[in-house]
Amino acid sequence: MTEKAPNMDKRMEGFRSLSPPVWRASTVLFDSIDDFTTRKERVFDGYTYGVTGTPTTRALEERIAHLEGARFCVTAPSGQSALCQIALALLGAGDHVLIADSAYGPLRTFAQDYLQRFGVICETYDPTAGAEIAQRLKPNTRLIFMESPGSLTMEMQDIPAIVQAAKAAGVLTVLDNSWASPLGFQGVAAGVDLVVQAASKWFGGHSDLLLGSIATDSRTLYEKLRTAQSVLGQAVSPDDCFLALRGLDTFALRYTHQCASALTLAQRLASHASVDSVLFPPRPGDPGHARWAASFQGGGCVLSFVPKLKSTEEVHRFFDALTVFQIGASWGGVHSLAAYYPPAEQAKRSYCQVTGGIVRLSIGVEPAQALASDIEQALRMAGQPT
Ligand SMILES: Cc1ncc(COP(=O)(O)O)c(C=O)c1O
Repeated sequence: MTEKAPNMDKRMEGFRSLSPPVWRASTVLFDSIDDFTTRKERVFDGYTYGVTGTPTTRALEERIAHLEGARFCVTAPSGQSALCQIALALLGAGDHVLIADSAYGPLRTFAQDYLQRFGVICETYDPTAGAEIAQRLKPNTRLIFMESPGSLTMEMQDIPAIVQAAKAAGVLTVLDNSWASPLGFQGVAAGVDLVVQAASKWFGGHSDLLLGSIATDSRTLYEKLRTAQSVLGQAVSPDDCFLALRGLDTFALRYTHQCASALTLAQRLASHASVDSVLFPPRPGDPGHARWAASFQGGGCVLSFVPKLKSTEEVHRFFDALTVFQIGASWGGVHSLAAYYPPAEQAKRSYCQVTGGIVRLSIGVEPAQALASDIEQALRMAGQPT
């Protein structure tokens, strides 16, 4: 076979579309052997090999960087891989890292079961801690992982105080900002060094892709992350980047609607006789409300509540009775989801204040009234003997 790859530059003449093209590539072609032998010089600003991206990836990275108010963005195959990539790019044996006790579970597991094996000293900290975090810093502390509000139990962190303490000690900060997204909180402007999004959630918006992103203002950190992406082979599918770019077109609309519905539900549940507590910082009365109101511009579509369900059978009856909510993990999509985390999960954590089983809801675009009625009828059914 002697055919060369088609010259797409020529094919593009006279054509424009509203959709970004999906550029797929492992191989990147070079115009000359000189360009080829010097390709490593362009790993940060150009194209060298599919693993560090194609123009479709770059289009998404630029768009996310713009949303985050950051100079740089590196995408990753999932939100979890973005968190792990940061750790692998920046930590080494003997380093100490602090992780919020309320952070996404698989990050804590990665620290415990993998980073520690490679000699990184990993500790969790009380997610409600403020300036006193300084007392947990050691001469070898390199990173503080934050997530606010925390996965599941929704503790609001004092991001300004933690950033200030970290900066004073020369420690880098990472914020998993997936819940609020850049529309709800601008992490880079708040001084956070690395802001992570599980782009599988809000950005994708349709529960059908896995993607992560890391935004930063630091050229040095950007280069370390891009290098780690290359060396670790953290390739991101351009098709998924396309889906995320399309998701971003409707993101602000979805965000506004879903956050408003989540607040409506949180308020209804807070006064429900079968509900022990609601965990949702945008709701006045939530323990984290003051912190949320002080620095966030928007909410989230995920809320948790502790139901007064007395037995596993009642929990099962509640979930089996749901008709609008579907049972599933993850969140941020247009379809509402419900998931359950039994008390034993909370008991494993060092600083968790919640002792009961938690129902976590991801609020989609269905009418808030239909969602509230669904939960209320399922709570009624749960209490009725079969
Ligand atoms: C807060 C948070 N961070 C990170 C992740 C991981 O994202 P992904 O599912 O894309 O790996 C999740 C997923 O549930 C999450 O809820």
